[in-house]
This record gives sequence, C-alpha cells and structure tokens, in this order.
Amino acid sequence: MTTAPDFGPAIPATASPEVEFISLTHLNPSTELNPIPSRGIELQFFRRYVAALEEGGYDYTLLPYGSNSADSFVVASAVGQLTERIRPIVALRPNTTHPLVAAQKLATLDQLTEGRAVVHLISGGSDVEQARQGDYLPKNRRYARTSEYIDILRRAWTEPAPFSHDGEFYRFDDFGPGFAPYDKPIPISIGGQSDEAFQVGGAKADIFSFWGEPLDDLRSEIDRVNAIASAAGRPAPRIWVTFRPIVARTDELAWEKARDYVARIAATFEKVRAARRDFAGTPQNVGSQRALAFASRSELYDRALWTRTAAVTNAAGASTALVGSPETVAAAILDYIDRGASLVSIRGYDTLADVVDYARHVLPLVREELAHRRATGRRGSLQASHLGNYGTEYATYATAGQQ
Ligand SMILES: Cc1cc2nc3c(=O)[nH]c(=O)nc-3n(C[C@H](O)[C@H](O)[C@H](O)COP(=O)(O)O)c2cc1C
Repeated sequence: MTTAPDFGPAIPATASPEVEFISLTHLNPSTELNPIPSRGIELQFFRRYVAALEEGGYDYTLLPYGSNSADSFVVASAVGQLTERIRPIVALRPNTTHPLVAAQKLATLDQLTEGRAVVHLISGGSDVEQARQGDYLPKNRRYARTSEYIDILRRAWTEPAPFSHDGEFYRFDDFGPGFAPYDKPIPISIGGQSDEAFQVGGAKADIFSFWGEPLDDLRSEIDRVNAIASAAGRPAPRIWVTFRPIVARTDELAWEKARDYVARIAATFEKVRAARRDFAGTPQNVGSQRALAFASRSELYDRALWTRTAAVTNAAGASTALVGSPETVAAAILDYIDRGASLVSIRGYDTLADVVDYARHVLPLVREELAHRRATGRRGSLQASHLGNYGTEYATYATAGQQ
C-alpha cells in the first residue's frame, strides 16, 4: 500500500460503492488493429484469454451477441467451466429466445457456475440486423417486448407454483415451477440509450449500461435512470460504463500509440463498412448517435476520454477510449466512479495483451485508491497528481497532431 498524502475533502463511506471490473471475451486473436481471417473459435486462444481474465482479477466478462457471432449462452457455459470466480454476462436479444426458455437456460448456467450468471438484454439497435433473424418490430416495440420479457424471466425464477401469462407479446398456460437459479434471481442488465431504454431499464433493470461519455453527460444520464427507478419504486440500478483504454508507460507514449491505433482501426473499419450495409450511414441506436455527436464536438474530453476511435468506426459498439499512462487512466476511471459508476468495463484494442496490461498496471491503482478511501474516509493522491490531459501532456499531443 502506498502512504499517499490526502487530497480533497473527506468522503462519506457510502460514496464508494463496491466497484467491479468487466471485460469482454474474445474467441480468437483477430483484432480491429490486426484482423485475421478465422473460422471463429480458436480454442487455445479462448482458454488463454479466459485464464488471463480470471488470473488478472476481473470480476465479469461479457459474451456479446450478433446474428453472425458465436452463441453467447454456449460460450458463457464454457467460460463458467474454465473458471472459478469470474461471472459470465450473457448478451441476449429477446427475439432470439422465448423468455421461458431463456429463464431455463440462464438458471442452468447459474447453477453450473454456482450463482455467477448475469444477463444483458439487448433490444436491438439496428432494424437491418434484427431482420437478419426475422425480427421486424420497430425499436420502440422491441423495448416494450423487453419489458414484458423481464417480468416473465423474474416470475419464472421465483414463482413457487404454476402460472399463466397473457401479455402483448407472449402467452402461455400453466408454466412452472420453473428450473430455479442457484440461490437468488439472476441480475438483469439493460443496454441502450433511447428514451425507451431509459424507461425499461430505469423501471426494471438491476444494472444499466453505458458506453464511455464525457463526465457531465454521463452524470445527467445516471440522474435520469435514477429518477425513473425511484418513480417506479425500485432501487437505483448499478451503473456500468465501458471504455477502450489505450495505455502506455507515459502519457506521451500512450498518445503515440493512440495515433498509430486509430489509423489501423480506420483501415479495418473501411473494409467492414464495404461489406455490411448496417455499418454505414447514421446509426439507428442512440448510444452510437451520442458517441458521434461527442466526437464531432471535440476529440478529447475531461482527463483522458478520446473520441477519435468512435469517429473512425461510425461509433459501432463501444468505441470511446481512455488514453494515458496507467495513472492517468486509473484516475479517469475514478472520475467516473465518483459520478456513480460501479461496474467498469475496460477492453482494449490489443485484446489479450491489454487484459494482462490493465490487470497489472491499471486495476491495482483503482483498487488501491478505493481501499485507501475505505480505510481513511479520504481521497488518495492519484486524481490530484495525475492530470492527464488536464495537464501539459495533451498540449504536446495537440501540437504533434497538427504536424
Ligand atoms: C455495454 C453494452 C453492451 C452491448 N452489447 C451488445 C451486444 O452484445 N450485441 C448487440 O447487438 N448490441 C449490444 N449493445 C447495444 C445496445 O444494446 C443497442 O444499441 C440497443 O439495443 C439499442 O440502442 P438504443 O436504445 O441506444 O437506441 C450493447 C450496449 C451496451 C451499452
């Protein structure tokens, strides 16, 4: 433990909720920096990746879902069997699985992992992508379906006696009692930033997830979720925020790396755009629209939030970066924790190498600061002494960038 001097005001114990880290599981070594044509799952790589997450001290890993991806349930089950501790988050689009079948699959995963399953419900951000699997509902109706889906999942996990349901999207008779989770209901997360996402997520989710946004914008979005939760008489959902950190030994080296990365990512994305019509034009999902709007206003926000990576990928998926030394990136993460995030997803562009680097150099700094706060009730020095782009480093970068 460092014996850092105290900075800033004392903080109440409740101001530092439990903070946990999320990653995303990659199935092969192909990256946006270095795409490798592949058949899909490379078992050796997958095993190494999952082992690196477990050994690195991450708490969760997201198994993403797309119509052309591996099946997130099957991969989650494998992650569960390859690990003892890390919690698999199954990305699930309601259109792909009847809610009672999803409840059964999730409860099975939860029992197989002794209570580690989490589900992340995706209502679908693109009509073109939804239609690929036969889903023709417009987005606002997809969120209405997600809302009914959540009610059915929870009832299927908890009802002690058979029940029937006659809703707008689903109807069944005399189901249950269903296959139960390990010991408690499985946490339900919502991803999305349209008004409908806020309504459903605020009123019903246990976790509400965001991509990385400027601090003030994220804070007002969190206030919005919390107000909806409170009006619905529910506890505020935990807040999950996602970044793609670009880290090097010093801030200057990290910016050099970032400039190199963005050129390579842009080249990869141009090839993807040519092949996929839903990757061109204005994205339909609000999270991506917001990321592009931030990118058009400024390349850099706050201590280290960089938007160029979003700009060159049409903000498809999580794409905003945090750039800097481990100290700068850890301080930036703490800025978000101070605004109310308690689930921090960090996944890099150099996938496996970044899992290891973040685990060695970033996670311990954040955790040390949080331990210091818990022990002393005061902030440590990290946020005060590592200014990142608030300081001189960005001036150097900005000048270099103009050459
Ligand atoms: C943290 C996070 C993870 C996500 N993972 C996926 C995913 O695996 N597959 C997918 O199709 N969409 C994923 N999304 C996208 C949103 O769920 C999607 O954009 C949403 O259904 C519609 O967005 P909107 O409400 O912002 O318009 C994710 C979103 C967030 C915030």
